[in-house]
Amino acid sequence: FLDISVKWTTQETALPKYLHYDPVTSRQLMCDQCPPGTYVKQHCTATKKTECAPCPDQYYAEDWNNNDECQYCNIVCKELQYVKQECNSTQNRVCECTEGRYLELEFCIRHTECPPGFGVVQPGTPESDTICQRCPEGFFSNETSSEAACKKHTNCSALGHKIALNGNAVRDNVCHENTDASAQKCGIDVTLCEEALFRFAVPEKLTPNWLNVLTDGLPGTKINTENIERIKQKHSSQEQMFQLLKLWKQQNKEQDMVKKVMQDIDLCENSILKYIGQANLTFEHLNILMASLPGKKVRKEDIQHTMKLCKPTEQILKLLNLWRIKNADQDTIKALTHGLKHLKAYHFPKKPIQSLKKVVKLLHSFKMYQLYQKLFFEMIGNQVQSVKKRCV
Ligand SMILES: *[C@@H]1O[C@H](CO)[C@@H](O)[C@H](O)[C@H]1NC(C)=O
Ligand SMILES: *[C@@H]1O[C@H](CO)[C@@H](O)[C@H](O)[C@H]1NC(C)=O
Ligand SMILES: *[C@@H]1O[C@H](CO)[C@@H](O)[C@H](O)[C@H]1NC(C)=O
Ligand SMILES: *[C@@H]1O[C@H](CO)[C@@H](O)[C@H](O)[C@H]1NC(C)=O
Repeated sequence: FLDISVKWTTQETALPKYLHYDPVTSRQLMCDQCPPGTYVKQHCTATKKTECAPCPDQYYAEDWNNNDECQYCNIVCKELQYVKQECNSTQNRVCECTEGRYLELEFCIRHTECPPGFGVVQPGTPESDTICQRCPEGFFSNETSSEAACKKHTNCSALGHKIALNGNAVRDNVCHENTDASAQKCGIDVTLCEEALFRFAVPEKLTPNWLNVLTDGLPGTKINTENIERIKQKHSSQEQMFQLLKLWKQQNKEQDMVKKVMQDIDLCENSILKYIGQANLTFEHLNILMASLPGKKVRKEDIQHTMKLCKPTEQILKLLNLWRIKNADQDTIKALTHGLKHLKAYHFPKKPIQSLKKVVKLLHSFKMYQLYQKLFFEMIGNQVQSVKKRCV
């Protein structure tokens, strides 16, 4: 008994109470409150506990209370609102603005749309408006939207493209695919055959004026003085003629005479490709090969890049081309000849060594000399010949 009565007492005291004047006993009584969803139907007396009754329909009581009646469900959803929660005995009706709107001063207002140049940092809710922010550096928004955040500018270089038009806050970067052949393709600017041919034409001793004499003698579109001066300034005398012929060839590609010589050069190049095409060298091999060349070295990154861009058959040629660019005044064919002597020591596969030796041989062959003669005797005439004679 004792046990139960104690429990009863604790429970009793835990419930919320209210003070009530009992007119019968003229005393202040502590009555129990009524739980949410109910109201006080009869106050407690000295002998009776509080009598609670449920709220009638459309009335509610949210908390413990000692009210004589429940509250009326007085919230009415307005235009542009919907009933989020219907009224029940413990809660008033809950209304909310329809999708895309928020409540401000009793009105459901459309969420702000961030204009171009601005992006959404916090989308609107039924209670709050959108928060917009000016797109930071490197981001853009080209739309009016209550949802879209600023987007990152497209990274053109990551796509292997160039930026054609820089983006800003309202515009994305415009990329364009590299049309620059050397960037897109393997891009060998001077082939070994051309180099061999042009080098045949370089006299061993040079007079100060020889470049102008040669230029005058070349048929087709003349190379302008500006370019000649540029070549003279930038390159050593050995290299000058080489550069001049390269430029002349570029300018006169469409001329029949030049085309004929070019056909012969193509034949030469096909032979070289036939030799080298078999090589199928790994990165290690190419690395060793390039390391064996004298002068400034082609970097490993360039070798990797070349392997990505160039067909296997073109890789060696491209790397030699890169070496040539790095060592502007040097003779690639001589360098290759030099390198080949050292390769055996590095356990370099025999077959490619043999192929490369054949290439070197071809480039020094009588055929090349014939080609040279065709170019400089038949085409250009005796002028260069006389230059050469005078120089030698
Ligand atoms: C009234 O609605 C609310 C919200 O849905 C709910 O939590 C509560 O339990 C409901 N009350 C009753 C008595 O059903
Ligand atoms: C916004 O930019 C994107 C990506 O550049 C483009 O596809 C879209 O057409 C642009 N929209 C407008 C409205 O300019
Ligand atoms: C673009 O991409 C490249 C390579 O993935 C990276 O190095 C560079 O930092 C990027 N640029 C920007 C602006 O994100
Ligand atoms: C080159 O070597 C790779 C791997 O060793 C092989 O898959 C490929 O077929 C070879 N290519 C040629 C042309 O021999």
